Amino acid sequence: MSATPTVSVRPRSPQRVTSPVTLGRALAAVVGAGSSLGWLLASRRAGRAAGAVAGVQVALLGGVGLYAMTLVRRAEQAREHALDEAAASHNQLQKLIDNTESNIYMKRVDNGQYLLVNREWERLFGVSRERVVNLTDHDVFPHDLADQLRANDLRVAAEGKSVQYEETAESADGERTYISVKFPVLDSTGRPYAVCGISTDITERKRAEDEIRHLNANLEMRVRQRTSELEASNKELDAFAYSVSHDLRAPLRSLHGFSDALLEDYDDVLDDVGKDYLHRLQRNVGRMGRMIDDLLNLSRATRADLERRGVDLTAMIQEIVADMRTTDPDRDVTLIVPDGLTAEGDPHLLRIALHNLLANAWKFTGKRPDAVIEAGRTVLSGETFFFVRDNGVGFDMSYAGKLFDAFQRLHTTSEFEGTGIGLAIVARIVRRHGGHIRAEAEVDRGATFYFNLTNTVKGTP
Ligand SMILES: Nc1ncnc2c1ncn2[C@@H]1O[C@H](COP(=O)(O)OP(=O)(O)O)[C@@H](O)[C@H]1O
Ligand SMILES: [Mg+2]
Repeated sequence: MSATPTVSVRPRSPQRVTSPVTLGRALAAVVGAGSSLGWLLASRRAGRAAGAVAGVQVALLGGVGLYAMTLVRRAEQAREHALDEAAASHNQLQKLIDNTESNIYMKRVDNGQYLLVNREWERLFGVSRERVVNLTDHDVFPHDLADQLRANDLRVAAEGKSVQYEETAESADGERTYISVKFPVLDSTGRPYAVCGISTDITERKRAEDEIRHLNANLEMRVRQRTSELEASNKELDAFAYSVSHDLRAPLRSLHGFSDALLEDYDDVLDDVGKDYLHRLQRNVGRMGRMIDDLLNLSRATRADLERRGVDLTAMIQEIVADMRTTDPDRDVTLIVPDGLTAEGDPHLLRIALHNLLANAWKFTGKRPDAVIEAGRTVLSGETFFFVRDNGVGFDMSYAGKLFDAFQRLHTTSEFEGTGIGLAIVARIVRRHGGHIRAEAEVDRGATFYFNLTNTVKGTP
């Protein structure tokens, strides 16, 4: 608090300074005594001259006496007027402080006695203003609290500036917490002779804050509990998927092996229809093998430990597309990717995610002679996203919500080969990084997949 509100009030002095009223009274007494003496002298002396002198003396002294009495009267009137004014301004001040919800008090620095309290203070602590004057905190509050209040007051006086405290006191409404601003009240020499406090009741606010804290802690605990339950059941499911997929591989290999053997060793026995059946069987075995691989990848994407480091996405994208060109040399695809595209993430998982997105872009532009795949970074509604875009067949956006679930496909296998697990893997990887993914597409006008890796929602797996 930079501003230091100090109030300067002239204190009531312990020794009474001689006022004009007292002086006037003394003078009147002296003059009165003088005139009586003059009169006595005049009556004693019998001489005429002496009588005349004494008469003048008496008249003179009487006049001075009258004048002195007028002075006394005036001084008394001035004093009464000043007292009235002081009482009026005191009343005004009292009214003002009585009409606030804060409790206000003023205490002497030297002995801690109360000088003034407002109505709210009286209400809260059940002590009337008439009674509290000349009492100290030790007469009103429990000892320890009184010690603390007194220490606070003395600190304010010593520091000579306003200080803010949080104080707790037992009141008519139970234990209340106050935020108190205390400031020193200075006398005409600049010395603090009283401390004034304005305390605002923050009990309700504190209670609400405590409740929110409590609710949050509770919620956090429940979320943690639910998360660990979910993690446990996810782990179980993953372990199950992993072992099933793993175990399926052996019979599949044997299916593939025996169908190969049939084709090779019984070539002359089988007619074309038989051979066609075997080829179909092999194609499906191959497809099932890929599904198993994808399922294994999906569970790996969840289970693998995530390590974050700087990843050169430009290089990664170029390598993945170069591999595709090698395996599919007939395709003529233009790749557009800016230099220096980097991300903070798990290199292994990011490669799997990008591979899936680029493989889709590659696959769904398969019927375009002028296929273009573009990758980069852009800002959408204030958030930065990486994107992979193609000018392929696209899809109807009304089904876009399903794409990120496993086995969801918008194109038939006869049109475009696939298992429908790729995007589910991508989405899991993105979520594990704390980011999110979305798609934008139009039938026949290509598709764009946006994702980021920032932890915008805490605690999301
Ligand atoms: N680049 C794309 N262009 C058009 N459709 C896409 C694209 N990427 C994904 N899709 C749609 O989303 C579905 C799910 O994709 P994905 O999970 O990778 O499975 P898959 O590639 O095995 O079909 C695809 O079958 C397709 O319908
Ligand atoms: Mg795919």
